[in-house]
Amino acid sequence: MGVQVSPSILSADFARLADECQRVAGAADWLHVDVMDNHFVPNLTLGLPVVESLLAAVTTPVDCHLMIEDPDRWAPAYAEAGAGSVTFHVEAATAPITLARDIRRAGARAGMGLRPATPVDAYADLLPEIDMLLVMTVEPGFGGQRFLDVVVPKIRRARELAKGRDLDLWIQVDGGVSAETIEVCADAGADVFVAGSAVYGADDPAAAVRSLAAQAERATASSWWCTGS
Ligand code: DX5
Ligand code: ZN
Repeated sequence: MGVQVSPSILSADFARLADECQRVAGAADWLHVDVMDNHFVPNLTLGLPVVESLLAAVTTPVDCHLMIEDPDRWAPAYAEAGAGSVTFHVEAATAPITLARDIRRAGARAGMGLRPATPVDAYADLLPEIDMLLVMTVEPGFGGQRFLDVVVPKIRRARELAKGRDLDLWIQVDGGVSAETIEVCADAGADVFVAGSAVYGADDPAAAVRSLAAQAERATASSWWCTGS
């Protein structure tokens, strides 16, 4: 799988969500849906009922990013509802291995998220249990924050770990991803790019998605980790 872009609808107009999703249809690989519970993060967005309605209204696969406490209890329902990818935060999970298996069993790709200060090496043994590692490049909770370039070595380390074990692991970056920062992420090893304000702040969101994808593809082609095969 090559470069993928997952626009975050956190920066869209919540009163017109289905229309906003339609604006990136055909360009976006995924729709990134940020679920926040005002406990794991200091913000509140939407939950399972809205995700269920969205799933019925859109054809683009849905990538749920759960910034919630007790994902062990809540995350599998998002997979059962039909989300193509469900990401929980490892800092919030009690039993991340069991949870990843539950998500996969329910038919979704299992993602595991790391806050900016959470090291990846501590979770190296878990990587075969997941399909995607989310490396947060801002503190989770809000769109429109500044990219934390201190996290870039962790993207690189995650890709090293995946390559060392010959894992087909997607590495997603989320937070402050834009035309200014996407290349450094792709070069380090990311291949799934979440962008909220850089997409929905643009006059033409679909064109913004295509432009970000093209930039990332160019950076990946000349990166240390891309074999070129
Ligand atoms: C933040 C969310 C992000 C957010 C990204 O906690 O997880 O998905 O929407 O927004 P931008 O791209 O504006 O930083
Ligand atoms: Zn997110």
